[in-house]
Amino acid sequence: MAKDKYWLMGPVYDALSWVFAGNSIYKCKCSMLDAPWLKPGDKVLFAGVGHGKEAIYAAERGARVTVVDLSEAMLNKFRKAVEKTGKNLDIRIIHADIFKVEEFGEYDMVTGNFFFNLFPREMIPEVLEHLKKLARKDGYIVISDFAYPQGNPLAKLFKNAYWYTAILIFWATTGAAIHPVYDYQHYMEQAGLKMRDLKHTPFLGIDAYTSMLGQRLT
Ligand SMILES: C[S@@+](CC[C@H](N)C(=O)[O-])C[C@H]1O[C@@H](n2cnc3c(N)ncnc32)[C@H](O)[C@@H]1O
Repeated sequence: MAKDKYWLMGPVYDALSWVFAGNSIYKCKCSMLDAPWLKPGDKVLFAGVGHGKEAIYAAERGARVTVVDLSEAMLNKFRKAVEKTGKNLDIRIIHADIFKVEEFGEYDMVTGNFFFNLFPREMIPEVLEHLKKLARKDGYIVISDFAYPQGNPLAKLFKNAYWYTAILIFWATTGAAIHPVYDYQHYMEQAGLKMRDLKHTPFLGIDAYTSMLGQRLT
C-alpha cells in the first residue's frame, strides 16, 4: 500500500479539530445519525472515517456500522476509541480505498464527513456516484462539511477565511487539493438524490458547518 498521507495528521486529527471548532465538527457529523434518518439495526457506512467518534455514536444507538479508511494512522485512533468504550459494538473496520469497496446496494446510509473536500472538483461526481451505489434504493447519503460561504459579506468573509485556514493546514500536512468550498447540495441534486434534510451547526455564532442528507430514489 502507498505511504500513509495521514501519518502526521493521524495521531492529532481530533485534537486539532477540537482546537479549531470545539465540539461543532462532532455535533455536525452526528446531526443525521438519529431518527428518522437512522434507526437501530440500520446498516451505515462511514467513508474516510478518521477517528470516527460519530461512527461510535451510531453504533451505540444500535446501528450496524462499517467504517472504511485508507490511513492506518487514522484507523489506529479509531480502534483505540472503540476499545475505550468497553462495549460490544457492531463495527466492522475496512482498511482500504473506498473505491475498492464494492458492496453495492447494501447500506441504509452512507456518509462522507469532511471527506469530499479531499478531492479535486472534477472528481466530486465520481466519488458521490460511488457512495450512492453503496447505498440501497431509498437509502441515504450524508455529506457533512464546511458550510458553503453565503450570507452577509462579513459572514462570507469569515467562512472563507476559516475554510482556507483549514485547507492550507491539510495541504501542508497531507497534500490535499486547495480549492473553494464546494456546493455539495448542487452535486447531490445533480447526482439525482432527493434532498431530505439540511442542518447547520454554528461555531462562534456563524453557521460554519453543514450536514445534508439526500435519498437515493433509483
Ligand atoms: C479529513 S479526514 C476526515 C475524517 C473523518 N471523516 C472526520 O470527519 O473527522 C479524511 C479521511 O479520509 C481518509 N481517506 C482519504 N482518501 C480515502 C480513500 N480514497 N478511501 C478511504 N479513505 C480515504 C483519510 O485517510 C482520512 O482519514
